[in-house]
Amino acid sequence: MIKIMFVCLGNICRSPMAECVMKDMLKKRGLEERFFVNSAATSSEEEGHDIYYRAKCKLKEMGVDIVKHHATLLQAEDFEKYDFFVGMEERNICDMQCILGSSDKRKIFRLLDYSDNPRDIADPWYTGNFDATYREIVEGCESLLRYITSLENIS
Ligand code: 4NP
Repeated sequence: MIKIMFVCLGNICRSPMAECVMKDMLKKRGLEERFFVNSAATSSEEEGHDIYYRAKCKLKEMGVDIVKHHATLLQAEDFEKYDFFVGMEERNICDMQCILGSSDKRKIFRLLDYSDNPRDIADPWYTGNFDATYREIVEGCESLLRYITSLENIS
């Protein structure tokens, strides 16, 4: 079982969107039994809250199943429980390294780091552009899955 934790600042926009998109992708490829996918926040600002309605609208528009969600804070104990901690932007990486007490680049990296164009995914809470966020999350999940399946030699 490969365990992936998606992480962003609030855990109400980008990381739960990535969780939903990745679960949808795994299901379509018949790989869902091999993965455990979750998401968490680096800030307690939105703790307990559901996915932001604009993120939900975009997922619904694209036909992606929306998971039941309560924003939760990333914990130090999570470090041993997951294989990969996948942040959205550089700031998430610094915060995760601090919370998890590790700077292992094989375990902690950004969602677009294994894409052809490694970069941050901007926070739609501030940009308001959920279309761009969705596109980048799909690009990131595709490249991440390609990377992990190449490591694990599964298809
Ligand atoms: P996210 O977006 O990190 O993509 O979930 C945010 C949502 C809420 C806040 C920050 C970022 N906030 O500070 O309330």
